[in-house]
Formats: sequence, structure tokens, C-alpha cells
Amino acid sequence: MNVLIAGGGGREHAIGHKVNQSSKLDKLFFMPGNAGTAALGVNLNGNPEKFEDVKQHLLKHDIDMLVVGPEAPLVAGIADFIANDEELKHVMVIGPKKAAARLEGSKDFAKQFMNRHNIPTAAHQTFGSGDYDKAVDFLKTLKPPYVLKADGLAAGKGVLIINGFEKACNELKEMLAGKFGEASGSVVIEEFLTGIELSVFVLTDGKDYVLLPEAKDYKRIKEGDKGLNTGGMGAVSPVAFADSTFMKKVKSRIIEPTLTGLVKDKMPYTGFIFFGLMNVNGDPYVIEYNVRMGDPETEAVLPRLKGDLLELFEGAAKGDLVRCKYSHNSDYAVTVMLVSKGYPEAYEKGKEITGLSEAAKKHLVFHAGTKESNGKVVSNGGRVIAVTGMAGSLDDAISCTYDGVARVEFEGVTYRTDIGRDLR
Ligand code: AMP
Ligand code: GLY
Repeated sequence: MNVLIAGGGGREHAIGHKVNQSSKLDKLFFMPGNAGTAALGVNLNGNPEKFEDVKQHLLKHDIDMLVVGPEAPLVAGIADFIANDEELKHVMVIGPKKAAARLEGSKDFAKQFMNRHNIPTAAHQTFGSGDYDKAVDFLKTLKPPYVLKADGLAAGKGVLIINGFEKACNELKEMLAGKFGEASGSVVIEEFLTGIELSVFVLTDGKDYVLLPEAKDYKRIKEGDKGLNTGGMGAVSPVAFADSTFMKKVKSRIIEPTLTGLVKDKMPYTGFIFFGLMNVNGDPYVIEYNVRMGDPETEAVLPRLKGDLLELFEGAAKGDLVRCKYSHNSDYAVTVMLVSKGYPEAYEKGKEITGLSEAAKKHLVFHAGTKESNGKVVSNGGRVIAVTGMAGSLDDAISCTYDGVARVEFEGVTYRTDIGRDLR
């Protein structure tokens, strides 16, 4: 099988690393990929949101399967484009069609879906640009902190959690006036949930699913969960508080009603569903749906998978996931993200990265924002390298990972030193 993985971050490198181990694989391509994926396959120029470019590559390289890493092409309808094109409709796509991708593309749509199918989530109301006064009335009924969410995709920046009522009203006004462009033309206001967060992932063919290992993500830039929000500074899998009693509730109250809801609403689904959950006194609530894997969670989750990921993808695409073998090992995986100095605000690119092959001897080293330049690997983004270490205990996995992290160097390299330590 020839496979194209759309995207170019650590998540896509980690998916590629696993797919590359499959006996079913002939040729592997990435679009656009990075310096790490270039060692696994061929990097193709282009933007996965430009469907005609994708089409040219799919035809030219005789691609059998497209695995879509990020959400934007899915929300824009890449799966529909391929299914509706006479020359492409044989291509298997891992990722949902536009209708179901709205679970991530519109927070209000996701909330309505959850309410319709009795899936536990924070109470909410949605307001449009003319509804400021009504929205303030609703805010008055809530206790602080106030949770304001831009309805649409806002590159991970569209959620504000605000302590003061006055400040919440001001932010709300700015959001409705277009602070996040079209994305905040509607704003979801919801009740604040207190608990511990975790991420749960499934791969589904729309009927059956495999439950992948759960993970905890570290979103803030600084130790102790301080500072600005980022795409993710690290991840750990498994998460001890996701015990079997809790996970049973996740399956029966969240995963299964979500899949049944998709069927009832006539939204066939192929691909990953990422449930962003809050554990509130032992009960799971959905904070958000994503229609893809998480980054950097993928770099901690997929290394724990046993067996053939490409076979699972094929099962998902053909609707016979139930026949696929699936298991994962019980090791701990800890991932630390090495980022550019200044990230998530302004940062410089083009810094030479050294120590990668040394680190790769005992660790998994996934490239995020990197590229090759004059025979050297240089930084090319905010998040640069993800190092994953694995061991039978959390402590050993943490030590192993930081041993790898210390080997990788570039000017201004920045990372959190506390990944996983709160879970001990
Ligand atoms: P989202 O983009 O919806 O995942 O929100 C970003 C982050 O905001 C989440 O990871 C949570 O940490 C936090 N958050 C979102 N909604 C809530 C809520 N209702 N209660 C508490 N925290 C929330
Ligand atoms: N790490 C969070 C995400 O991928 O959305």
C-alpha cells in the first residue's frame, strides 16, 4: 500500500514511524513533512488544505491511503473532496467528512450534539454578535471563573478562562466584535468544571472502535502549569487516575453514546476521535472533541501500540475494524517537547540542531518544526523536537526521557523540566 500522511509535525512523524513498521506498506509520503519524516519516506511540497495539490500528488504517486494529521483539512472537507472525485474515490481516507469534523470545527455544534445524545458536558449557551446583553445576563447566572469559547477554529487560542465578571464582559464584547475573526462571531459560554484533565483517543470505523492508550497533556509553557498556553509541552501515557472504574464510565457514558449519536445523525465516521475530558470527582465530562490525534499526545500514545497501525487504518477505512487485532503494552511513555526560545510568542527559526542521532540510540526522537538546510537539521517552528522515553515505571520513563532531552541541543532550546512529575 502507498500511504500519504498529511501534516508536518511531531504527530505526523510519530504516525509515520508506526506505519513504517507495517508489512503492508510499500511507499510512504508526507505532505509537507519535516526533516525527521524525510528519513522515513518522501516529503512532498504542498499544503493539505489545497485540495487540488493533494489530488495531483495522490494520482502521481498512486496513493492508496491518505492519513490526515491536523484538523484544518478535515474541517475544510478534504474527505468529501476525495470521496466525490471520480479519479480519487478509491483512496482510503483516515479522517472524517466535513459534517462530522464540525465536532471540532464548531464548539456550538459539538455542544448541541452532546446535549442531543445525553453526553455529559458543562452547561452552556451560545451567543451571536447581536446578543451581548443576553450573554451578560447568562454570565450573571454563572459563578467565576467564566469560560468563553470562540465557536470556530482559532488555532488553540479561542478559549478564555477569566476570574473577574467585568473582565469577562469586556472580553466577551471583544470576541463578539471579532477578536478571533470569524471564529468568535459566535461565543459559547459555559460552566467551569473543576477536576483533572485527560485525553482519551479512539480509532473508529463508525461502528466499532479501538480504545488507544489515554494520555495527559501539559499545555502551559512553564513548570507548574504557569504561563501562556501552547500547543502542548509534553505528554504522559498511561495516566494513573484513569483506572478501570473511570474508563468504564468513559466508554458507556461518552465513547459509545458519541458513536451511536454519529450513526443516528447520519454522519459516518472513519478516523480518530480525541475526547478532551475532565474527571470531576470520578465522573467524566467532555471538554472538547477533536477529530484527529493530539500533538504531543500521539508521540506518547502510539509508541505503546503493539501490532500493525496500518492494518488498523485499513480496518477503519473498510468498516471491519472489529476483525483487527489490537493491544498495547503496559509501559509508561513520557514525551518532552523542545521548543524555540520565545515560543508561544515570537521566536527565531533556522537554529542548527545537534545530538539527534545520539539521542535516537535509546529514545524515540520525533521531529516537529524542523527542516534540512545545507545538510544540517535546523529549527523551523515553535515546537521543534519531541523526545519520548519508555520504561516499566513512570519514574524510570521520566529519567529516560530527560536523559534523551539533554543530548539534543540548539540555540535557545527550551523545555519544561516537570513533565510527568505531578503524576508520581
Ligand atoms: P478547549 O480548547 O475547549 O479544550 O479548552 C482549552 C482548555 O480550557 C481546556 O484544556 C481546559 O483546560 C480549559 N477548559 C475548557 N473548558 C472548560 C470548562 N468548562 N471548565 C474548566 N476548564 C475548561
Ligand atoms: N495537545 C492538544 C491538541 O493536540 O489539541
